This record gives sequence, structure tokens and C-alpha cells, in this order.
Amino acid sequence: AMESGVARKPIKSWTAYEQELTERLGIDNRLIMAIRTKAKQDPKRIVFAEANSFRILKAVQFVIREGIAQPILLGNKEKIQELIKENQLDINNVPIIDLCESVSDEKRHHFAKILYEKRKRKGMTYNEAVEKMYNHDYYGSMMVETGEADAFISGFSRKYSSTIRPTLQVIGVKKDYNHIAGMYMLLTKSGPLFLADTTVNMNPSAQTLADTTLLTAAEVRKFNIEPRIALLSYSNFGAYKGAGSPIRVKEAVQLLHESNPDLIVDGEMQANYALNGKLRYSRYPFNKLGDKDANTLIFPNLSSGNITYKILQALGPYEAIGPILMGMKKPIHILQRDSTVREIINMTAIAVIDAQDNNTN
Ligand code: ACO
Repeated sequence: AMESGVARKPIKSWTAYEQELTERLGIDNRLIMAIRTKAKQDPKRIVFAEANSFRILKAVQFVIREGIAQPILLGNKEKIQELIKENQLDINNVPIIDLCESVSDEKRHHFAKILYEKRKRKGMTYNEAVEKMYNHDYYGSMMVETGEADAFISGFSRKYSSTIRPTLQVIGVKKDYNHIAGMYMLLTKSGPLFLADTTVNMNPSAQTLADTTLLTAAEVRKFNIEPRIALLSYSNFGAYKGAGSPIRVKEAVQLLHESNPDLIVDGEMQANYALNGKLRYSRYPFNKLGDKDANTLIFPNLSSGNITYKILQALGPYEAIGPILMGMKKPIHILQRDSTVREIINMTAIAVIDAQDNNTN
């Protein structure tokens, strides 16, 4: 069966694409090259929860060829094999788990028991837990929870919120954090720009904004970059005194200055003052970023974060990598719906280095 609406034009080899990014578009893509190289050094087992799809399989073919990860495919075996054959994909000897056919009752009950223990005081019955093991998001995250896989990728074909709930129930939030949040990395002509929260918290409190900032700072440091963080709003440093996002963001900055005095973070500020350090310094010389441009932007709510990254991605040219999920106990990543093959490949590399880090923690 052909997947409707999916363009079948051959995608360029990775190297050709890199050349185009750097030579024609002038994008500095050294960071994603470094991520890919790091992933290849210790390729991890990534479970793809939605392998019934051509684009996922196309990405999987790349990932195998480049040695970035060891994929495990969850999905309808017949459909997967048909897609592989029909598109002459070079995918051999990759484990395919069909939840209806290749999972033993024993295994299903083993996973169901673990889920039941986690959820029995949250209204889940044992029978419901067994039923959930026919759902690839529950089953796939349980594979990561139990160590059968190192990281999880899903979300290609359904809305984000319905994919993230099962993973929150199975994996949960990292110790010392109260929230998860999503980040996007944009590779631009002048280096990488990190944006958060682009995917999870709809109306964050000052505390949630502060938590999101700390999660993002930790994530940016993973890429060996020192975060220079601006908390954004439509007002600068207390200029607006009414209720709303400027006040909440200002409170978040106060919390951060108290709890993390060494973090390079300030706000509230407008986006042009965040991205133009000289301008900001000339008007607000006391600001903690000095005259440096911010490389990390924290948005006052989900609408602004989500809309901004999608506009930038649409109007490019940027290489947009994400959404990178932060704050989960184990490496779980939910793709944006209808991700391109390239986005899936990039997220796989991110998931692998996430899993490498998770081992050493
Ligand atoms: N961080 C950590 N844990 C959370 C969070 C969070 N941000 N939100 C909910 N949880 C926990 C809850 O505490 C709950 O735990 P419990 O059941 O153990 O008590 C569990 O997750 C499930 O809670 P629900 O009440 O079902 O979740 P909720 O209705 O709050 O929904 C969700 C959570 C799905 C993340 C919601 O906040 C949401 O829909 N966010 C927006 C997602 C979205 O649409 N993003 C934009 C598109 S994404 C894109 O463009 C790529």
C-alpha cells in the first residue's frame, strides 16, 4: 500500500546535503556533523514506535548505512516488509516487533505488571495495563524502561500530546526536575540558536519557566556550548508593569538569579534586544549577557515558542533539529508530525547521544 501524500523523490546523500547547506546556503552546520560523528562512535539501540511508514523506514535505511544507530522497528510486520520491498530499501536483519504477532503473552504480562505497579494508584487496572501493551507508544517506552532499547522515537503520524502521555506514564520526569519541556536547535549562518519551550507547557508559571531554562541550559552544555540565555517577552527589564507575560518572565529571571547566580541569563526582554547584544548593552549595560548576542531563547508560553520555530523553519534557510525532549528520565523523543526524512535522521542522532550520556550518568 502506498502512503498517500508522501513525495517519493530520492533524497540527496548526506554529504551532498551538507555541501549544499554550507556552500549555497552558508549555514554553519558543524554542530550536527559533530553530533553525527559522536553518535557513530557508540551507536545505540533506538526503538522506532511507528515503523509502518515510508519516511521512517527511509530514515532507518540512512541510519543503518551511516552506522548512527541500531534500529528496532515496532509495527505491522507485513506492512513494513511490503514498504521495504516496494521501495527497494536496503534494510536487512533489523528486528521487527509486531505487537499482535511477535510478542508472547508472558512478555506482555511482564510489561503490564511494571506499568500496573506505576499506575495502580492513578486509576489503572491490571487489565487496562495489559491492553496498553498493544499500543506501540506504551510498549516502545516500556522497552526503554526495561533496558531492551536505549532510546525511543515516535510521534511521526499522530498529535504530540497523545504520544507524550504514554511516555510520561512509563518513563516519567527526571529526578530534581518537575517538568519536561521541548527544545529546537536552529543552525543558522551565525551558529546555532536554541529555542524552548517549543512543544510542551502551554501556560507556564514563573517556576516552570525557570525550570525550563535550567533544563535548556543543561542541554545546550551537552553540545559543548555555553548558553547565553534571554527570557523573552514584549517588554524590556520591567518596562511593563501590568499583569501578563512580562511580569511572569521577570519573576522567572529573579528566581534564576537567586538560584543560579553564575548562569548567563537575563530578561524579560524583546527578541531584538536578545539577538543584538550591542544594542542591548547600549540601553541596558547592567544586563547579564553584556554585549553578547543570546544563543538561547526561552519563550513566555507555548504559543509563542511553537509559532516562532515553525515560522523560522518555514521561511529558513535553517537546519532545524528537534523537537528535543528534555527532562525525561530516559531518552524519549517525539517527532513533530510529518517530519521530513532528514529531521528523523537528525533526531535519531540526537537520541543516540542522549542514550550515550544516559549511560554515564
Ligand atoms: N512535565 C512533566 N510531567 C507532566 C507535564 C509536564 N509538562 N504535564 C503533565 N505531566 C504529567 C502529569 O503530572 C501526569 O502525571 P500523573 O498521571 O503521573 O499524575 C501525566 O503527565 C499525565 O498527565 P495528564 O493530565 O494526562 O496530562 P496533561 O493533560 O497535563 O497533558 C501534555 C500533558 C500532553 C504534555 C499537555 O501539556 C499538552 O498537550 N501539551 C501541549 C502539547 C502540544 O500540543 N504541543 C504543541 C505541538 S508539538 C509540535 O509542534 C512538535
